This record gives sequence, structure tokens and C-alpha cells, in this order.
Amino acid sequence: MIEATPRRLHLLEHYADGEDARHFSFRIEAPAAADLTVIPGQFFMLALPGHGEAPFTYVSRPDRTGLFSALIRRMGRLTDALFELNNGAVLGYRGPFGRGWPLFFSAQRVIAVAGGCGLAPLAGVIQEATSNRLPVQLSVLYGALHSAAQVLSREREQWRQALPLIETFDRATVGQRQGTPLEHLDEVFAAHSPEALLCCGPEPLMLATAEQCLRRGMAADKIWLSLERRMHCADGLCGHCYVGASYACQDGPTYRYDRYLHLLANTRQPAVGQDLRFC
Ligand SMILES: Cc1cc2nc3c(=O)[nH]c(=O)nc-3n(C[C@H](O)[C@H](O)[C@H](O)COP(=O)(O)OP(=O)(O)OC[C@H]3O[C@@H](n4cnc5c(N)ncnc54)[C@H](O)[C@@H]3O)c2cc1C
Ligand code: FES
Repeated sequence: MIEATPRRLHLLEHYADGEDARHFSFRIEAPAAADLTVIPGQFFMLALPGHGEAPFTYVSRPDRTGLFSALIRRMGRLTDALFELNNGAVLGYRGPFGRGWPLFFSAQRVIAVAGGCGLAPLAGVIQEATSNRLPVQLSVLYGALHSAAQVLSREREQWRQALPLIETFDRATVGQRQGTPLEHLDEVFAAHSPEALLCCGPEPLMLATAEQCLRRGMAADKIWLSLERRMHCADGLCGHCYVGASYACQDGPTYRYDRYLHLLANTRQPAVGQDLRFC
């Protein structure tokens, strides 16, 4: 689908949710059929007049009225301007774009590993699992630098009641789990024997988690990562987002690990992680 002109998007409300991050509720004016079939892990382009466009993930999917939410971290030009807006502001929206997470695949026990704002692209999957709409047992391992850096506080409160959620901190205080998610993988494998991984966060965390899961016997085709690339058109036209021979805006941002390795092996492009960062 080529959607060049942004549609009208209303900013309904927002609240602080993590360091330099806010939880936004938006409503798409006159939602289209595609908006109602968003798959967790897909993304949309948010346009601010005079400040350009940037990609963001859906935290909750648009409902019939077009209402959805997103977790956005303040990074630069566009997000600075967004954080200054009041409720009721009218913005631009294009989407949905890309491929979401695999929701139905041959694995019963799945682990979601997230770092920092990387929890946002996984939120939809976790929500589906807590509502028993997925035929999988999901456990979640979420790492943050410290408590104040954690995002999606309201969602995590609800998830804790429904599934195993381990929260780790690089700078833990008394009673918290010290370390990165990698240091707590053994505990999850011992308790749940996961057969598949969905992972989103800083590149080094994703790549190390994938390798650790391979070492514990997980198959490469059961490992999925969400990659971040600079995106402009989001429609396969500009070439800014390439991963090897593939465009992340269309073939990603979620990639199966074996396919990702294959793409890297067949290109001279630098390995993902060298030129990327995740919020
Ligand atoms: C598929 C996808 C989904 C995303 N989902 C979210 C989300 O849910 N929440 C969220 O907060 N952010 C998300 N991001 C990141 C978000 O798009 C960027 O932070 C955004 O472009 C910032 O815009 P800005 O104008 O405020 O900052 P800019 O002024 O564009 O950038 C600030 C700094 O970040 C660097 N930068 C910006 N984007 C990238 C990039 N893709 N790769 C490397 N460096 C970059 C710039 O070089 C600059 O140094 C997502 C990105 C992608 C590709
Ligand atoms: S963002 Fe233009 S081709 Fe992907």
C-alpha cells in the first residue's frame, strides 16, 4: 500500500511514563479497514506540521473508533515538538506499516525479552497473551537501567497478574533484581523451557539474547528480533531502511533470526548494532 498523504490524527491525552517518555492516546479520524487489522509489532508514521515524520509502534491497536496508544521517548526535533503539544492537537498519521510479530507459530512456550523502550513493540503481544487470545504460554523478561527508566507502568501492573514477568535493573536497589536480562535467562529457561524468543531493545542486547537462546538449544527460526532503521517513506521507495537486500519498512521491522543472518551474510553492509540504536 502506498499512502503518501497523512490522515488526520487527534492527540487525546498523554502522561509521563518513564524517563523522557510519555504514553500518548491518539484517535485516527475516520479509521480505514487496515487500521483495524494492525498486528502487534507493526508501526505508523506520525507527522507534525513543520517538524517532519517519524515511525512509532502501536502499544494498543486502533479500535473501531480509531483510538490507540503509543509510548514515545523524547529524542529530537519531532518528539521535542510533540511533547509541547496540548490535548486536542491535530497531527498527521500514515499506517499501518511493516510486518508484526508472528502470533501463531509452532511453539507453545515463548519468551519475550525487552530492554528499555523496546517493551513498547512487544506490548501488543503481551496484551494478547494476557487476554488468552494466543495459543502460547508467554513469559516476559524486561530490563531497564533503573526504576525511573521503566516504561509502560500501568500495563506492567496488569501483566504481573496474568503471566511471569521478571524485571531486571542495571542499577538495582534493595529487593530488585540486579543485572541485565541476559543474566536472568537461566532462571527463565529453568522455569519455563521457552521454545521461541521475541526480542526488542538495544542492538547488543538483542544479538546477545539470540545467541544465548541458540546455545540453549532454541532453533534460529524460532527467534525474532525487531530492528530499528532510519525511515523516511515507510513504503519501500526511498531505500533508507535497508537490511541487506531487504527494506525494514516492508519486510521488517521484525525479522526471523536465521533470515537476518542470511541477509547480513549476503551484504557488505555493517552488522546491525554498529549504526543503530533503540530508544
Ligand atoms: C519501526 C520503528 C518503530 C519505532 N517505534 C518507536 C516507539 O514506539 N517509541 C519511540 O519512542 N521511538 C520509536 N522509534 C524511534 C523513533 O522513530 C525515533 O526516535 C524518532 O525518529 C525520533 O525523531 P525526532 O525527530 O524526535 O529525533 P531526531 O532529531 O530524528 O533524532 C534524534 C537523534 O536520534 C538519532 N536517530 C533517530 N532515529 C534514528 C534511527 N532510526 N536510527 C539511528 N539513529 C536515529 C538521530 O540521528 C539523532 O541523533 C521507532 C523507530 C522505528 C524505525
Ligand atoms: S523507509 Fe523508505 S524504503 Fe523503507
